[in-house]
Amino acid sequence: MCGIIGYVGPRLAVPILLEGLKAQEYRGYDSAGIAVLENDMIRLIRAQGKISALEERIGGEVGTATVGIGHTRWATHGRPSDINSHPHLDCKSEIAMVHNGIIENYQELRDWLIERGHVFASQTDTETLPHLVEHYYNGDLLAAMMQTVARLEGSYATVALCKHDPRRLVAARRDNPLIIGIGEGEYFFASDMAALIQYTRNMLVLQNGDIALIDEEKGVSVYNDGKPVTRETIYIDWDKDAAQKGGYEHFMLKEIHEQPWALGQTLRGRIAADERDIELKELDFSTEYLRSINNIAIVACGTAYHAGLVGKKAMESMLRIPVEVDIASEFQYRDPIIDRHTLAIIISQSGETMDTLLALRECRKRGAKIVAICNVLDSTISREADYVLYTWAGPEIAVASTKAYITQLMVLYMLTFYLARRMGMKSGDELQPLISQLYRLPEKVGQVLDSCETEIEQAAQQLKDWSDVFFIGRGYDYSVALEGALKLKEISYIHAEAYAAGELKHGTIALIEPGIPVIALATQPAMHPRMVSNIVELKARDAHVIGLSFGGCQDVMEVCDQTLVLPDIDPLLSPMLSVVPLQLLAYYAAVARGCEVDQPRNLAKSVTVL
Ligand code: M6R
Repeated sequence: MCGIIGYVGPRLAVPILLEGLKAQEYRGYDSAGIAVLENDMIRLIRAQGKISALEERIGGEVGTATVGIGHTRWATHGRPSDINSHPHLDCKSEIAMVHNGIIENYQELRDWLIERGHVFASQTDTETLPHLVEHYYNGDLLAAMMQTVARLEGSYATVALCKHDPRRLVAARRDNPLIIGIGEGEYFFASDMAALIQYTRNMLVLQNGDIALIDEEKGVSVYNDGKPVTRETIYIDWDKDAAQKGGYEHFMLKEIHEQPWALGQTLRGRIAADERDIELKELDFSTEYLRSINNIAIVACGTAYHAGLVGKKAMESMLRIPVEVDIASEFQYRDPIIDRHTLAIIISQSGETMDTLLALRECRKRGAKIVAICNVLDSTISREADYVLYTWAGPEIAVASTKAYITQLMVLYMLTFYLARRMGMKSGDELQPLISQLYRLPEKVGQVLDSCETEIEQAAQQLKDWSDVFFIGRGYDYSVALEGALKLKEISYIHAEAYAAGELKHGTIALIEPGIPVIALATQPAMHPRMVSNIVELKARDAHVIGLSFGGCQDVMEVCDQTLVLPDIDPLLSPMLSVVPLQLLAYYAAVARGCEVDQPRNLAKSVTVL
């Protein structure tokens, strides 16, 4: 939700903090700030707005500090303003802290601190932290942090800088990510590995309840429950340009174009040489366990939820087991039927979405076995699951999820085929044609990108001035329509709705007026006659219908105003192709409307609050 950075080492801190914040700006971008230790004083610079506003305020005065912390904010408590920006200070301006998460008992703590003479400057929950550390500080920052977090309810990743401990930083985490980067005689904190890859590939992921001390001379010490613990350093082998725009105007466009590569990564090592089976070495389900599965529960948010809707259809048709898909934030309100006979599939790009994490814990409490589908390595969800199937899409920086969605679909299909074979529902012979198409999917997505981008850019011009756009489809197409509508609304701010095509006549068709754009997905030949009827009904009301179908589908093409043509693929797998034009449509509509594509208003990449 917010991005944290920290540095201690021989280099100038300000440029490193700024670079680290820029690399994490997607996590929050309504205000930013840094605090560095210079001439025995904390120098605090904060600015409402984007990191460019902070940079402007710093005005090139990098100073001489070699230790500091920084933060880019997505506001929860206290509206975006200079004063509410992090870092926050204690009363004496000797302790500065940054925080990602929500301190749920902040009001009680604030009252308690005010009673003891502390003076607060902001409306944030975070400001309780430096005041609490100040209260407990007795020459030992680590001990003060331990006492502070013992008082906290809620979630946090926090880093503290103290004037009296000039070559150290102390941090703590619970339910929010925090990474330590280990360089040559220098150390970093960040919320995301991508922010550190330009400095070091050696990273240590803090775990829930960890409190970490970085001492420039002595290195990293981690404590949990008051005792020292060992945390493994992992080597991150991402391409150092993975978190750069690589010549594209926006991360979103880069990530859309990276999809063939990302799918290739997701597939790597997971397809048997004879293409008759999927090999998921991460899973070690026994035959007995597989026999005991009565139902599958998929839980996720946003785009990941939409991927789950596709997964449900594929799994139910192949495994003949009931599959439920829940929006993670709604999950707890319906007393789901989940027990040890349930296989829970938790999908999350970031692996940090709080609603999804809580749903995972609920599934665990009820006895389910948990498979997580995550992109971010070593994230909280991937750690808490019994098994993780990584999507290996590389860092996704744009707020609008694209390559994560397509690779989540790929993993869901692979998992479906894997289970189908092991549950005796499909033979190698039956799966081979599908697996062979999975293997060739990166190439097909490349063809979609090559063939339709210009046409879509023009189509986006036509819909950019409309305040409503509709997406319709049946079966798999309806699930993808939901994702297309989400993409369009989140980055272009055009109101977009997806409807099951058959539902239109039950109310929504009343909204159709002459010229209104409707995107009609028609990749399921078995449903074409009905889709054609729906499109004809829309045309009778003068809607402008853009179809999405395969080359041979004359029936659809004849009734649409324009049809975007996809390469042929088994209809079961079509979501991985049909989503691509919809991503491009949203992208070009947002560009045409002058929107900030990578950082849409009010949003942040990873939602680590409830
Ligand atoms: O990191 P997660 O996959 O758990 O994130 C879930 C949603 O917040 C995310 O997919 C969101 O809907 C995207 N902005 C959509 O593009």
